Parts: sequence; structure tokens; C-alpha cells
Amino acid sequence: MKRLVGLIVAFACVLTSMAEDGSRLWLRYERVNKAVVTGPDCIAADELRNYYRGEQVSLVIDQTMPEDAYRIENQTICAKDERGLMYGAYALLRGETGYSAPQWKLRILNHWDNLDGSIERGYAGESIFWNTPSTISRSQLIKEYARANASIGINGTVLNNVNASPKMLSASYIQQVKEIADILRPYGIRVYLSVNFASPMALGGLKTADPLDAKVTAWWRAKAKEIYKQIPDFGGFLVKANSEGQPGPGDYHRTHAEGANMLADAVKPYGGIIMWRSFVYGANHKGEDRVKQAVSEFVNDDGKFRDNVILQSKNGPLDFQPREPYAPIFDNMKRTPQMAELQITQEYLGQSRHLVYLAPIWQEFFGYVKPDRLVGIAGVANIGLDKNWCGHHFSQANWYAFGRLAWNPHLTSEEIAEEWLRVTFGRMENGKWNMENGELLSLMMRSREACVDYMMPLGLHHIFKFDHHYGPEPDGFKAEYPLEWCPVYYHQADSLGIGFDRSHTGTNATAQYAEPYRSLYDDIKTCPEHYLLWFHHVPWTYRMRDGRTLWENIQSHYDQGVTEVEDFLRIWQEARPYIDEQRWKHTDERLHHQLENAREWRQVCLDYFRSFAEGGLK
Ligand code: GCU
Repeated sequence: MKRLVGLIVAFACVLTSMAEDGSRLWLRYERVNKAVVTGPDCIAADELRNYYRGEQVSLVIDQTMPEDAYRIENQTICAKDERGLMYGAYALLRGETGYSAPQWKLRILNHWDNLDGSIERGYAGESIFWNTPSTISRSQLIKEYARANASIGINGTVLNNVNASPKMLSASYIQQVKEIADILRPYGIRVYLSVNFASPMALGGLKTADPLDAKVTAWWRAKAKEIYKQIPDFGGFLVKANSEGQPGPGDYHRTHAEGANMLADAVKPYGGIIMWRSFVYGANHKGEDRVKQAVSEFVNDDGKFRDNVILQSKNGPLDFQPREPYAPIFDNMKRTPQMAELQITQEYLGQSRHLVYLAPIWQEFFGYVKPDRLVGIAGVANIGLDKNWCGHHFSQANWYAFGRLAWNPHLTSEEIAEEWLRVTFGRMENGKWNMENGELLSLMMRSREACVDYMMPLGLHHIFKFDHHYGPEPDGFKAEYPLEWCPVYYHQADSLGIGFDRSHTGTNATAQYAEPYRSLYDDIKTCPEHYLLWFHHVPWTYRMRDGRTLWENIQSHYDQGVTEVEDFLRIWQEARPYIDEQRWKHTDERLHHQLENAREWRQVCLDYFRSFAEGGLK
């Protein structure tokens, strides 16, 4: 009987290990228990013993190596400590050799997870951290999460939404944060928390949250002490202040620097940092062109922040659109350390229903804001309780690409996609991952431009359906909401033309850019066409570089976007023999949905714009 149970269990294990539900992400290694590993007993050793297909590996500590860097040579991994060895081990499992060191010390995921388990802009189920159902083992899941992140070099995580509940800092939640931190620590991942600036009032019963008030400062110092007692390597706080209804120092006529510095002083004794977000609008500069407000809001604070404050800014000046020019705040804050915030969750790119590979967006950004101008990188996570973690199997590629670019922003999008495809969909043959269908790489590489084309080509932006941001609403306007939430404000279509004049004849947002971009963007003749309607209000009959009119160009971009998705379906159909049925069907169903949605975008937008372009509503 015992034997029979054993057999059934073994059989079940084989079945589960073969199930391709996406839960193994890019870590689809089969246990081989082959390699003899010498050196310290650590995660690197375990992983290599379990999964490495070579005979032998030596792990060597070399304290002269830079932090987190590794060297893989002649079956030997060298690193400063066990963490570096761990990164080296995952690299070796991917088939990498040679020397590698990360670009940034801070490679952080931002989870917009609420304490009730919901996730703001989450499209893959509920939170893995908060209010998880009793049917799942949270600690097991968090361990898998830690391992996945470690395998791509991510070393920090903010566990809760930037729209933060004050409850996050209560004793019972700090206890939970400690439990999570204990699981993440062996994988080299530090925890951080988003904090609500008014916590001293909501939680501490104080009458004010004024950063210059002695009681308030004392409250934050005591809170920091309480946290560090439980979590000695706690990373610090992420803060969204005075934006979209959040409290902040502005409520007391204090500057961002005054608010940030007060928190910075509280965590300083423990080595903590403050990541202060520049995504601020509708505060002191209400009414100004929204894309200009961050610079207006922060420029006077430049040089006034403590040395443990980092300004965290989204890559573009608006809000994670399919295409935006880079945010000029990166040009303006010359004496303030800065981090870029990228969005992995596809809030404005079809969420977890569209196949859109995001690395090209981030690479485009690094083409303007060179990586060495930044001290770190943050990515808004797309992870939830869904079996495949990210909702769409291909959305896993965005988590993967974020980690790989956070380690090395000079990798190309192609290199990362190719690597991810091999380990995620490939088959292990003769000790190597093989992926037969080369067209999948082309599908991934074309997917972002396709999305731009069928949603908002030529610099159009924010014409999404209200609030949930899925689907088109070019006629969107609601008097009761701020204008900067309304699509009509952004495309400015009228009988003469379309686009937002941000040149010197309009809001002069171009003046916030450093040269050469200031002049380049300001002049309609030199402005890159993919940013044209971001910076200019352009006549429908304007002659574009290809000799056709703007209106003709708009139409052909929408057509092109839809045609691309049709071709993605063909590629996916042809890839069927190479892909397991489970993931193939899941993705196929989503691609059909994507096509339907792309067609809707084309139809709704072109019908609406036609009414202006062809005079219907003149
Ligand atoms: C976007 C998003 C919000 C989010 C905000 C932020 O506006 O839609 O849900 O809170 O960005 O980044 O703070």
C-alpha cells in the first residue's frame, strides 16, 4: 500500500513538473542532480547541484570583486560573496560565461498592492503579499517569487501601493513585512514600503503631519526605529505626495524637499533611503499643461534634498503611454540623484490581454536618458496570484526584461527576447535550450510598435476609456473631472487639425528639454514624426515626409497596427507544433481578443477623427 501511494505521488509529481501552466516562468529546469559543486554551501550551490548539466563547478569567494558582480570561467564562478555567486549561478544556468556587473545598485519592483489584496492596475489576480486566501501557502509563493527575481538580478521590492494605506505601518503589518523580508533576504532582496504622508495623523493620532512639526518628526523616527528593530536591512520608503489626492508636505505649505528630508532623517541612522516620486500634478501648478507640472513642481528643490533621497520619475512626462518622449525632469534636476520608474504592468498597453513586449519602450528611453545619469531603476510589477503570475504568458517577458535591463541596460531588446523565448518556450535538447520558431522573436519585437499604431500613432496619447484605461474613448470628456483626465484635452482635434501644441506657440513644454531635443521637438519640421502630435497641432492636410497628408498617415498607421496583429495570429498558428497545447491555447485566445480590440481602436478613432478631418462636424 505504502509503495502504491509512493508511486501515485511520484506520478503526480511528474505530471505537475510537466504541466505548462506558466507557473515555472523562465525557470523550467528539470532536476538533474549531476554537478559536483565545491565552495560555500549557499543558494548558488543548491541551484547548480539541482539543475546544472555539467559535471563540476567551483564557487570561489573573491573579496576584491565589486558588489553583485560575477566571473564565470573554466567551470568556476567567482564573486565577492554568496549573493554574487547566486547571480553567477543563475547566469551559468542560462548558459552565460564571462564577467558581468550590474549597472545599478537599486533594481526594484514596485507593487501597487493594497492591503485588502486588490492590486491597482493589476491584471493577474490578487496580491501575493496581502490578504491572500488561506488555501495558498503565501510563504511558498513568496519564495518562488524571490527565486524568480534573484534569477534576473532584481534586489528590492516595494510591497504596497503608492496610494498607500496608513495601516501599512501598524504593528501587525510590520510583523507581516518582517515575515516577508525573512523569506526574501536569502535571495538578496530587500523590502521597502510605500508610506502615506499623513500616517502620523491617521495612525498616530496627531493633529498634523506637518514635516516641520516636532511631534511629527518624532513619530517618524520612532516608526523607523520600530521597523528596523524587526527588519535590520529594511530598504526605506517610497512616497507619492500631493498628487491625485494623496497627502503631502504641500498641505502645510512645505516643499517636497522639506517633506522628503524629514523622512530621510528618520531612516538615515539605519542606512535607509527615501524614493520620492515626481509624478505630481494638480497641486501647486494646477491648470498648467500636465506634462510640464513635474518640472515646475520640483525644479526649485534641486540640490535641497538629503543625500539619502532619490527622486523617482516615470520615463515619460505623462503616464506610461505606449509612446512618450522622455520626461524632461531628467534634464532639469542636476543636483539630485534620480531613478527611473518604468511600468511593467501594461496599464495602457492592453493590460494582460494584449501581447506587447515592453523592452523596446525602455530601450528607447535609455537612448535619451543615459543609464549613468540614474542611480537606480524601478518597475511597476505585473505580478498577481494567477497561476502564470502575469495573466498573459508573454507578459512574463516584461518582468524578465525589466530585471535583465536593470542589470544591464545595454542589452538589446532582441537579445533579451531571444533568451527569454528559449528558456520559456524552448525544449531542452543535448543540454541546451532550443526554440525552433524564429518568427516568435519577430512577433515580440514588432508588438510594441503595432500597439502604438492601433492605439495612438504619431504622438497621440491618453485617449483611453475613462478610469480603467482599456479601449478607446477619443470623445471622452466629463466636466466633473479634471481636464487632464479627458482624452479631448490630449488630442485637441478640431476642424483645422489635431495634436497638442507644446511648442513655443503653445504651452512651450519643449523649453523644458535640454538641447538638442528642445529645438528638435519645437520645430514641426524637425520633430520626429512619432512624436509629432505630442508636440504640435497639425493641419489634417499637412504633408508628411512620405508626401501624403497627415490624415492619410493616421489612417494607414491604424491599418498597419491591425494588419500586424493579424500577422501575429498567423505566426502563432504556425508556431503551434513547437509549443505545448496549454500555453498555446491560452495565448491564442488572447491574441484573438487583441485583434478584436485593435479593430475596435481603429474603427472608433478613425470614425471620430474623420468627423473633423473630413469636415463632418465643422
Ligand atoms: C496612474 C495610474 C494610477 C496610479 C498613478 C501613479 O495615474 O492610473 O492608478 O496611482 O499613475 O503612478 O501614482
